[in-house]
Amino acid sequence: MCGIIGYVGNEDAQPVILDGLKRLEYRGYDSAGLAVLSGGTLTIRKRVGRLSSLEQTCAENPVQGSPGIGHTRWATHGEPSEVNSHPHTDTAGEIAVVHNGIIENYLELREMLEKEGFVFRSQTDTEVIPNLIALELRRDQKDFMGALSRALQRARGAYALGILWTREPGRIYAARQGSPLIIGVGEGENFIASDVPAIINRVTRVIYLNDGEMACLEADGIRLFNLKGEELKPDIQKVTIHAEAASKAGFETFMLKEIHEQPRVLHGLLSKHTSDRQDIAVDLSGLGRDYCRAINRVMIVSCGTAYYAGCYGRLLLELLLDINVEVELGSELRYRRAKLDPGTLIIAVSQSGETADTIAAVKKAKASGCRVLSICNVPGSSLVRESHAVLFTDAGPEIGVASTKAFTAQLMAFALFSLGLARLRGELSDEKLSRCLAELQKVPTHIHYVLSRKDAIRQIADKHHDGPSALYLGRRFNYPIALEGALKNKEISYQHAEGYAAGEMKHGPIALISEYLPVVCICTKTDDELYEKMMSNVREVDARHGRIIAVATDGDEAVRGLAGDIIYVPEIAEEFSPMVNVVALQLLAYYSAQARGTDIDKPRNLAKSVTVE
Ligand code: G6P
Repeated sequence: MCGIIGYVGNEDAQPVILDGLKRLEYRGYDSAGLAVLSGGTLTIRKRVGRLSSLEQTCAENPVQGSPGIGHTRWATHGEPSEVNSHPHTDTAGEIAVVHNGIIENYLELREMLEKEGFVFRSQTDTEVIPNLIALELRRDQKDFMGALSRALQRARGAYALGILWTREPGRIYAARQGSPLIIGVGEGENFIASDVPAIINRVTRVIYLNDGEMACLEADGIRLFNLKGEELKPDIQKVTIHAEAASKAGFETFMLKEIHEQPRVLHGLLSKHTSDRQDIAVDLSGLGRDYCRAINRVMIVSCGTAYYAGCYGRLLLELLLDINVEVELGSELRYRRAKLDPGTLIIAVSQSGETADTIAAVKKAKASGCRVLSICNVPGSSLVRESHAVLFTDAGPEIGVASTKAFTAQLMAFALFSLGLARLRGELSDEKLSRCLAELQKVPTHIHYVLSRKDAIRQIADKHHDGPSALYLGRRFNYPIALEGALKNKEISYQHAEGYAAGEMKHGPIALISEYLPVVCICTKTDDELYEKMMSNVREVDARHGRIIAVATDGDEAVRGLAGDIIYVPEIAEEFSPMVNVVALQLLAYYSAQARGTDIDKPRNLAKSVTVE
């Protein structure tokens, strides 16, 4: 959601900015723009739609010089249009700003600025920022940092900002409050960016800006300040991901590549957190061993796909531990009057570590004395910095908007954490632990097996992709997988899909069942009772002539007579089967989307990282 890039150095900024914007495309956007400052002259180019259109404009009419700032916009205030695209300038056209976030009091600021003679052209909240800075500059025309800091103290909300000022042609200013922004540290050149993958090909060192910090970048220097104007010492960190990790590596899309990376990612997590096949080695020191023993309640918080990982986490923690577990959406928990106390462990799950609602919920829980463990994929992200302890999912950059490898890595992280916590609390016998670990070790190979069936899954997708809707059913551990399977389908194929607890089917969705409705039933072999219940649901769908697509355990002949199509998967304990079963549903959604001709890596209207509420 909105991407920011900025460059100051000896090269022309335009190609560097365009390259950075390309790398930020995955975050989701509907228009793009850039500004280049060349010897005090500001040139701005903006285009609605795909970045290729901005690239074409820039190729026809290139701008030379540096520094430059660029932006991919995901519309919040005002429709996608050139006038609403960033960069925005002050009325005099001397200050150019790119912004990610929302200025909540923009209407009152705008009214005040209009009374001061400033003229607004767009419908955006962002446009108040350059004008507010211009207003503050009236006090002292030379002190830009002072004006910026005073302006920001008047703005309420979230922002990551990149700013150019025509009177200081060798500088980029930046600021952050609640939206992600990093500084890339180069040799004779420096960058600002929304995330590391945007500049991964250019730098090996970064500074993660903290909330309430401002920066001034020149080609050979970076200075950091707090909002009071006091200078801070930058904490420069080494980048831990490699440039190749953010490439398609020969796959037709990032999503397909990421689906195929899952066996490696999960194997890596398993090896990292198990000392050998017999023992678990999850580092819980960030939470404290005594605290872990005393936890009386767990509240899992997350959004989107990560929320479904949380639903899985709840089931597993409940299975392995004698503990109360709840799961809640970030956007709900932040406004609930839930009782949160120091005995409640918050587990925040997030691929990006930048999801505004998840972070807001975490901050609220921290204010009530809770400790926070995050399951996160991005080192240095806002969530990681808010947490007492972190279990990294180590999935590498996930570029496809629809989450795949980050999701299965979150499930594996939950499995490892639950085993580690149960062990520490003395709630897990040696025998049960080795049984669980032996099952978990099967996961990467089993996923390979599902991947090897992709042609069969493609044929099933080809048969069913054209209907208006699809229903996904699962029970217990595979109920979150039914929800996630349906979400994957809607996200990338735009076919309406609904995930349901199979036991709830009779309370509504059964009315939809007809020969036209594909019903994806996850009926892998679990304990006998649950399998039988699921099979009854399958029969109920069959009796109403629904088009059954079953995800079933290899060798299960009983399903054959009922389901028109079957995706066979290898047998594994029910509690770990979601990591395998979901891969079948990822592929099903993928090939449906392909058949429907959508833009799989960048589905319409979606953003990879939802940094506003
Ligand atoms: C967006 C993404 C989803 C993701 C969700 C939560 O909606 O498109 O793929 O699951 O945000 O993001 P997070 O980074 O917190 O996991």
